[in-house]
Amino acid sequence: MKHWRIDEVRWDQFDPAKLDPSIIALVKSAAMVERNGTDYGTYLKRVFHDDPAFKDAADLWSVEEIQHGDALGRWAMLADPSWDYQAAFQRYKDGYELPLLTADSSVRGSRTGELIARCIVESGTSSYYSALADATEEPVLKQVCKLIAADEFRHFKLFYDHMKRYLGRERIGVWGRLRIALGRVGESEDDELAYAYHCSNDAPGLAYDHDRCIAGYMSRAMQAYQYKHLERGIGMMLKAVGLKPHGRLSSVVVGLSWRFMRRRQRRFALVAAA
Ligand SMILES: [Fe+2]
Ligand SMILES: [Fe+2]
Repeated sequence: MKHWRIDEVRWDQFDPAKLDPSIIALVKSAAMVERNGTDYGTYLKRVFHDDPAFKDAADLWSVEEIQHGDALGRWAMLADPSWDYQAAFQRYKDGYELPLLTADSSVRGSRTGELIARCIVESGTSSYYSALADATEEPVLKQVCKLIAADEFRHFKLFYDHMKRYLGRERIGVWGRLRIALGRVGESEDDELAYAYHCSNDAPGLAYDHDRCIAGYMSRAMQAYQYKHLERGIGMMLKAVGLKPHGRLSSVVVGLSWRFMRRRQRRFALVAAA
């Protein structure tokens, strides 16, 4: 059972006076990646083919991710009535394929590794939708982002609990787990998001350019973050690799990451403006 349904959102409270074009661009892009949850769910079920409990959980997970895409897409069409969510998603599907679509075992080298990578993604999405909910003044988007963030926090817990179970058998050390986590963080600037930005925001006929598109997306997304959102996301990532989510180490990592992110945001904004 899903935790909420799209028709429970108070769509009638939509307020066009509170729109921010930067946030509309982010929502359109995020709708593409979320809607693509079907393919990732198929891959997860292949990786965990002999684990019925996890396969059931992965089914529900992908249904919830698809709903995130549909809710964001519906909001973006309210915000920009000239935009077509389904057509944009079709362009995305036609031009981008998850690199792991044909893999039979985890591209992370183990099931524990796969679940750590999922924890990293859910840490990122839960903090991101919390940040978007705080960044927007538009009441419907605020509600949608809070509902999605609550799902993403639950998804983290789901993958974390299964990861602990597999860790007991596969015994991957903290360094091995850290390497997988950092690898997944680094992938956030790959084509998945950049191409989503292209399909959902670029004018028809404009060719895809990874650097321009990732800058367009990241300059806006990083701008939405406040320190508290980054702090929470990094705490969850540390927990996923077996380190303490709060304390001295966490404060140092969050402080460095905050400075790094601000600097990177300025650099992306320069590229996007050019
Ligand atoms: Fe999601
Ligand atoms: Fe999620």
